[in-house]
Amino acid sequence: LTTVRQIYRDKDSFLNKEVTIGGWVRSLRDSKTFGFIVLNDGSYFDTLQIVYHDTMVNFSDISKLNVGAAIIVTGTLVPTPEAKQPFEIQAAKIDIEGASAPDYPLQKKRHSFEYLRTISHLRPRTNTFQAVFRVRSLIAYAIHQFFQERDFVYVHTPLITGSDCEGAGEMFQVTTMDLKNIPMTQGGAVDFTQDFFGKPTNLTVSGQLNAETYAMAFRNVYTFGPTFRAENSNTTRHAAEFWMIEPEMAFADLQDDMELAESMLKYVIRYVLEHAPEEMNFFNQFVDKELLDRLNHVLNSEFAHVTYTEAVELLEKHNEEFDYKVFWGCDLQTEHERYLTEQLFKKPVFVTDYPKEIKAFYMKMNPDNKTVAAVDCLVPGIGEIIGGSQREDNLDKLTARMDELGLKKEDYDFYLDLRKYGSTRHAGFGLGFERCVMYLTGMANIRDVVPFPRTVNNCEL
Ligand code: 4AD
Ligand code: MG
Repeated sequence: LTTVRQIYRDKDSFLNKEVTIGGWVRSLRDSKTFGFIVLNDGSYFDTLQIVYHDTMVNFSDISKLNVGAAIIVTGTLVPTPEAKQPFEIQAAKIDIEGASAPDYPLQKKRHSFEYLRTISHLRPRTNTFQAVFRVRSLIAYAIHQFFQERDFVYVHTPLITGSDCEGAGEMFQVTTMDLKNIPMTQGGAVDFTQDFFGKPTNLTVSGQLNAETYAMAFRNVYTFGPTFRAENSNTTRHAAEFWMIEPEMAFADLQDDMELAESMLKYVIRYVLEHAPEEMNFFNQFVDKELLDRLNHVLNSEFAHVTYTEAVELLEKHNEEFDYKVFWGCDLQTEHERYLTEQLFKKPVFVTDYPKEIKAFYMKMNPDNKTVAAVDCLVPGIGEIIGGSQREDNLDKLTARMDELGLKKEDYDFYLDLRKYGSTRHAGFGLGFERCVMYLTGMANIRDVVPFPRTVNNCEL
């Protein structure tokens, strides 16, 4: 089969020649002696028009087709200079592969994203979701290529773990125990020794701790896999199941970490502009009119840098504009993050050196003993897209911090070993893959960049 994408990209070699295309009917108009079918073949978000005539033996069967039917068309690609599309197919033969029932939910009119979320098995058949999920696939590929070109080793970290990397307690528990008949200890606690792993386990919130162990052997590694958070936040940027890319570098500090993050984001932007120009133009036209200007501006400038303390000083001057007032020590909210990157800097911003109280236990303490070597990367339209840090590589400082936070050291033996046997400075970050897809496509809701989204009260399909 020829694909519609091949035809759009290289029309001169197909014009006035015979082509065969398989696809799904987007719309159909028929009159007594001829008809038009608008077809999408999944290779390209846009459609191709087919003209067919009553000279075909199955003319009446074709005219009875409903939207959504699967067909294979053989015919000649002819130029149509006056029409919206530059060419169409004059069909010689149309095979009906599978008819479609008349109640097919996707009709020619524009459906809202909200409605399309209720039919996540059919929405990939629309232009927007054709473009989104093709670009999502390309971004994943570009990310692997970026790290592989730099000799980073791809590590597959486990999805079931016994630790809580971020210490935020937002974990989905994993158990084989029968909820109606949970074994209890004498003391009245749940007896996890009778569970599959003999202890409480959960779905991972981050592969970082495992990735660090491999960084201490390979130097530069990355993970790219699903992560899970039982955050009860019903926002356009939080999903319960999302993918994260987590590079980890030995012999590297926070500065190296930021340089890696900036080159990665620029690489991926350049990659999609080069490999999916049609989709990117489509997003710019129909989803976000400033998308291409914004991305090109990112490619042509350096990311901004501020410390948390400087950011708080800048934001405090605008406190009347915020629902949640800023003060030193507060966790920056999305409204503050977006204000920094959209109003004050108008480009991606690295915010560094956050108060230790609002960051995870593993981050390296700064000499001031108040802040840690953390970095968040904020981008317009989204806010935080990356969170990272230099890691505490000193055994005594790390154990002291864990004691302060009441973390059980027995649960982190392997992690402490890394500080015992050949410790070195090291740093890494986590890029939220879905937020990256939103950033590059202009899509405003995380539910519309995950094929089958899982959010609070929603686990369809
Ligand atoms: O900032 P976070 O929590 O950092 C970590 O998990 C570190 N262990 C990463 C590291 O240093 N290796 O999460 C990293 C990124 C966020 O910046 C955000 O883009 C994304 O993951 N993220 C989410 N994306 C969608 N839905 C959620 N519920 C998310 N929570 C975090
Ligand atoms: Mg974070």
